[in-house]
Amino acid sequence: MEEIYFEIFESLPRQGPGDEESTKKAFQKLVELPEHPEILDVGCGTGSQTMVLAKVTSGKITALDNHAPFIEKLKRDVRWAGYGERISCVVGDMASMNFAEGSFALIWSEGTANIMGFEKALNAWRPLLRPDGYMVISEMVWFKEEAPQEIRDYFAKEYPDMKYYEHSFPIVESSGYKMIDYFPLPSEAWWKNYYTPSEKKLVEMRRKYRNNKDAQVILDSFQLEIDMYRKYSEYYGYGFYITQKKSS
Ligand SMILES: C[S@@+](CC[C@H](N)C(=O)[O-])C[C@H]1O[C@@H](n2cnc3c(N)ncnc32)[C@H](O)[C@@H]1O
Repeated sequence: MEEIYFEIFESLPRQGPGDEESTKKAFQKLVELPEHPEILDVGCGTGSQTMVLAKVTSGKITALDNHAPFIEKLKRDVRWAGYGERISCVVGDMASMNFAEGSFALIWSEGTANIMGFEKALNAWRPLLRPDGYMVISEMVWFKEEAPQEIRDYFAKEYPDMKYYEHSFPIVESSGYKMIDYFPLPSEAWWKNYYTPSEKKLVEMRRKYRNNKDAQVILDSFQLEIDMYRKYSEYYGYGFYITQKKSS
């Protein structure tokens, strides 16, 4: 049934919440970045944020994802945009990336670190950063400490480790980084490139898989996720964590 997920996600402009403005806003906080930084984009999907990073920097970007069709799509877009010299597209696992220590001035990861675990990702990826390198992660968080029971119950199943956003600041510090800045992703960034096209795709797929019960269960669960966000977006969302590796 994994194919059902991928059939949805391969059709979308992005594979998670985010937008160009927020990627640029986070990037602007990195005031000590070298002029031509080496950048690693972890869990790049089809590379929506990779292309934004290519626009705002003259550095080299390695875009990594474990789903080969996403990487194939990104390769085509990279060629078409003339970024072939600056963006390398790699199929790989974020849990076992064997780049040399200190390879990158910046590691960027939108909507992906939570799959491995925020703290685990911070620790596992740290050696890949140069001294004073930056780590920028967008992560699902609670915006309020109290939330209605329905949404608490939903995330108790879907993402039990989800934290109130401020409670992740000390985790950043204890993992060997300084907090440089934080901002919440605006809700438009969930709808424009992600949930609005997802809902359209779900309608199409409901027709296509009308006789497939297992597929309908998956489509229902994605629709429920969207409905929860529509109802409770003031309580949770993505936070952008802009952090810098401590030198010692
Ligand atoms: C929520 S999507 C975010 C994609 C993209 N950054 C965006 O914001 O549109 C998470 C991405 O992580 C990728 N992913 C999942 N597990 C992975 C792993 N173990 N190693 C590398 N990428 C992984 C998925 O294929 C997917 O593209």
